[in-house]
Amino acid sequence: MTATRGRPRVEGPDKLTGAARYAADHRPDGVLHAVLVGAPVAAGRLRGVDAAAALVLSGVTAVLTAADLPAFPELPPPAAVRAMPLSDDRIRYEGQPVAIVLAESVEAAEAGRAAVVVDCEREAPVLIGHGRREPAMSEDRGDVDTALAAAAIRIEQTYLQAPRHHHAMETSGTVARWDGDRLTLWDAVQASSTVIPVVSAALSVDAADVHVVARHTGGGFGAKGFPWPHEILAAAAARIAGRPVSLHLRRPDQFSNVGYQPWMEQAIRLGATAEGVLTGLEHTVVNNTALADTHVELATEASKSLYAVPALRLRQLVERVSLNVPTPMRAPWEGPGLWALESAMNELAAAAGLDPLDVRLANFAETSPADGRPWSANGLREAYEQGARRYGWRGRHERPRRDGPWVIGHGMATCTMGSFRFPGASRVRLRRDGAVVEANVHDIGTGVQTVLSQIAADELGISPDQVEVRWGDTDLPRTGPTYGSSTTVGTGSAVAAAARDVTKQLAELGQGGRNPLEALDHAGIDELVGEGTFDLPGGAGFSLNGEGTPYAIRTWGVIFTEVGVDPDFGLLRLRRAVGVYSAGRIVNPVTARAQMTGGIIWGWGKATMEQSDQEPVSGRWLAKNLSDVAVPVNADIPADIDVSFTDEYDQTASLIGARGIGELGATGVDAAVAAAVHDAVGVRVRDLPILPWKVLAGGPLTT
Ligand code: MOS
Repeated sequence: MTATRGRPRVEGPDKLTGAARYAADHRPDGVLHAVLVGAPVAAGRLRGVDAAAALVLSGVTAVLTAADLPAFPELPPPAAVRAMPLSDDRIRYEGQPVAIVLAESVEAAEAGRAAVVVDCEREAPVLIGHGRREPAMSEDRGDVDTALAAAAIRIEQTYLQAPRHHHAMETSGTVARWDGDRLTLWDAVQASSTVIPVVSAALSVDAADVHVVARHTGGGFGAKGFPWPHEILAAAAARIAGRPVSLHLRRPDQFSNVGYQPWMEQAIRLGATAEGVLTGLEHTVVNNTALADTHVELATEASKSLYAVPALRLRQLVERVSLNVPTPMRAPWEGPGLWALESAMNELAAAAGLDPLDVRLANFAETSPADGRPWSANGLREAYEQGARRYGWRGRHERPRRDGPWVIGHGMATCTMGSFRFPGASRVRLRRDGAVVEANVHDIGTGVQTVLSQIAADELGISPDQVEVRWGDTDLPRTGPTYGSSTTVGTGSAVAAAARDVTKQLAELGQGGRNPLEALDHAGIDELVGEGTFDLPGGAGFSLNGEGTPYAIRTWGVIFTEVGVDPDFGLLRLRRAVGVYSAGRIVNPVTARAQMTGGIIWGWGKATMEQSDQEPVSGRWLAKNLSDVAVPVNADIPADIDVSFTDEYDQTASLIGARGIGELGATGVDAAVAAAVHDAVGVRVRDLPILPWKVLAGGPLTT
């Protein structure tokens, strides 16, 4: 099947021609459009909502407030929040929903929103850096204080990063329709099956009566990973109105009504021998969370899992501020963690006078530092070697250091992510004209249909063109969520198992060894149905890093970046990047390369551009429109992004040998870029994003 391995995306033509249907494209008969009215202040008390001026507008049918809505119970996990908005009169963040306008058109609903008058008692908001800090996690291994005191080299630095929003092109939203007691949701989500128990608990409806359809999802990056209040509000409003309701977050509402990656402050203390071998490591992480809801950004996972360190002290704290609750964002946990850890490792290399690559090699973990288990597979050393060769790392300083106004610097970092595995089921229907794969995965733009069609085709011995994938509907076999780089691993394995079930049935019919489509014909059967599951040890619902197996499972890689710095203006340019990744078997090199390239671009954005500010007087998000959000565009990205993978088959991680790649490419880039800036002009920026003024303020620049 080698010829089909790099199969281009099957959904490409549908997306290009507009045939792909997103949640908001569903317009059931009689649909009303809903727009949320948000609190205008970040802290205080709601005194009243005056809807009179909205209700006289043409097309506006209702303005719902807390008094109209049912009393919501505390939401069960995995809901993103515990307490529903519109439940009490406390205002805890700007944009918190205080009313819902229903209208015959989106335009009328927006006009209604603008006409609603919200009366608030304003209080001073709690700003980032000024909130109450609470311990959220601590873990110790060995004697860190003694190790640090005795260390030949000590690095003690604090690394900051700004909050960042996911900014999917499709905002989050839901179309809700009741048919008697039965509820259908067309939803923009990454995990439709988890919406059911949450909506069911929130609205006291039987879970069996909730059906969620989630066809094409216009990006998610984690913001659509957990169920959020707007999904429940859409269903509640539809029940009250007696008509279907379409509630899609306006772009400004997206900032406050779903999550973002929090502001983070990470203090690293590391001790090492003169040869750069780590002896002790302390990593203290603070991330902001909401006043009433808690998100812990587990950045210490990076320090816990990557290097062989005998003594470790890990601390996680949350700081409560007047903002909505953060949520996982593409490469959560290790992504932020590596910004701090890998920056400190680069500083260690500089202090020791060693090549940063040699410092990584000196601290390579032969077994899992977290618990001593052997790795299921680990190609990190090979990735270092391949990457250094492809980049020309060892000879980097022999090349010209200037190109016109640009002073050129080089930096590197290790990449790593943990392994998220979820159980799931799939079905393969073999018919005379081809096969149909059924699995409730989500198409968030990663190429999942393409990959699942390849896996089924490989197992059946037919062409992927003969495989149709049905996805995005809770009536299909339940799979894990489409996040945590877990979909190909879990659902891919379940599809492979279902296809093998078909093959086994063909053999039992005496049709083994024949082309399966001809075999059906031969046996006079119209359809054979194979069932497959991906199960975890002990029937667990989730396994982190190989939990429940004798092996530790992770993914790794290395990223090398070449950055140009303009010493007069502090401007940065990404000139070249080389990434090599160890992630098990790569099912489709085309979609895999796209994932990693996208991750590197995402990392450049994090390193040099992205920042959501809490405005220091009002406490609200400062910019609430994409036009105010700096993210990389084509002109920011060089053609020379070189992505490759080590050749692996990881039989512990999954039936198909894959370990999961989606988020790995986004890790390490920020630390590599910061190191490249330092290499170019001698300035260490420890506060993301690395904006021109920070480069200049760190001067004088040595060029
Ligand atoms: Mo991602 S944060 O696993 O959608």
